Amino acid sequence: MKPAADGAFAVRVEPAGFRFEAGAGASLLMAAQAAGIRLPSSCRNGACRACMCRLVEGEIAYAVEWPGLSRDEKDEGWILPCVALARSALVIESPLAAPHVPEAPPPRPLTGARR
Ligand code: FES
Repeated sequence: MKPAADGAFAVRVEPAGFRFEAGAGASLLMAAQAAGIRLPSSCRNGACRACMCRLVEGEIAYAVEWPGLSRDEKDEGWILPCVALARSALVIESPLAAPHVPEAPPPRPLTGARR
């Protein structure tokens, strides 16, 4: 499938059905985050495998030469979204994906004083 006019590809995250656009130069993890979707992650450089999920449809490329997946895992459809770049419209399966919830501001100290 061809990219949108701005070069971005549509990505759908199952089973929740979240949708976002991933440009050619942004990892799936960062594109999802920019769209308000939180995917599991830790190292963000393809080493820890915390973000590992399944590619159900579409094609990706990697931003790093040696993403931390075995050949068998790649053949089974596992990908690392933190270093994966969309090369077509995608469907990925990431059961722990969730809406990004902004952090609450730090609590104010309880001093008992009124201002
Ligand atoms: S976040 Fe560590 S491999 Fe993706």
